[in-house]
Amino acid sequence: MLVLGIETSCDETSAAVVEDGSRILSNVVASQISLHEKFGGVVPEIACRAHGELLIPAIRSALEEAGIEKTDLSGVAVTAGPGLIGALLIGVSTAKALAWALEVPILAVDHLDAHIYANNLAHDVEYPFVTLIASGGHTALYLTSSPTSHRLLGSTTDDAAGEAFDKVAALLELGYPGGPVIDRLAEKGRSDAVSFPRTMLAESSLDFSFSGLKTAVLYHVKGQNAAGRPQGPPDDAEKADIAASFQAAVVDVLCEKLFMAAAAEGAGRIAISGGVAANSALRRRISERAEKEGIIFYVPPPALCTDNAAIVAGLAYHRLARGESSALSFDAYARRGA
Ligand code: KG4
Ligand code: ZN
Repeated sequence: MLVLGIETSCDETSAAVVEDGSRILSNVVASQISLHEKFGGVVPEIACRAHGELLIPAIRSALEEAGIEKTDLSGVAVTAGPGLIGALLIGVSTAKALAWALEVPILAVDHLDAHIYANNLAHDVEYPFVTLIASGGHTALYLTSSPTSHRLLGSTTDDAAGEAFDKVAALLELGYPGGPVIDRLAEKGRSDAVSFPRTMLAESSLDFSFSGLKTAVLYHVKGQNAAGRPQGPPDDAEKADIAASFQAAVVDVLCEKLFMAAAAEGAGRIAISGGVAANSALRRRISERAEKEGIIFYVPPPALCTDNAAIVAGLAYHRLARGESSALSFDAYARRGA
């Protein structure tokens, strides 16, 4: 079964062809970073217009790379939400038009479910496993018992982990998106240079909070910390130290909560996905601890962690194969459960 996936929830325009939910024949990602970086973040209006321009060429390239015609498709899958509503509507409308014209089923896919599916494209996963999903919009833990069933264990009470990376990068004037820049810069800094808070909330809580950490970085950079950092913008060496210390705080919390969740569920398998799962320090840390504790750790290659359409097409296969489809009247949604 050949499924075309379409993803336009934020600032990546992506189209992919996946065979039987596992073999990626193409996964075209047209990044809009250059359009948004001068604004220091995603500008929804610009994202919508760019998706409108980039999506049809991306679909064309995805079909071409896969070596198939559009009439070979067995179904079309599209991210219906959560995300920027205008951006989602470009993908949803295009997918509907295509499915209608080709007379194939269409499937509305949830963006978070698709992120969790990334590990199925990379590994022969066994169930159940505890998944940490950390992206620009979400940070949550799930117990995953099949490609389509996830039970929420905990989630962020304020900022998402990726959002914290982006905000701290903006504060340090490092550019957008912040995650990859901080990841690289942190290699040059000392992770114990600044003692930033690790917010764990209640003792057994599987929820997250990153706004206190973000504020602590702000106070430190603005020189309002108790240690009395001198006023004035940090130089390059200080920026590297702040980046490394901030990243270490995020990694500590994400790692600790993931292992807490695995212990609480008695799970011998864990997984990570979403944009922040591309972070090298996070991957290293979880992998080392998992090995020490004899826990199986699934992590997708970085290109499958960040937004892409292969995860959409891959997941959709499992629902299309059991005869499910969405009515052509389905709507996009900005928030989960909305
Ligand atoms: O999953 P994703 O591509 O889009 C959303 O669904 O939000 O995640 C994007 C987020 C951004 O906040 C970005 O800064 C972060 O993932 N990110 C990273 C890294 N690469 C992307 N965060 C930390 N380290 C990275 N290497
Ligand atoms: Zn995403």
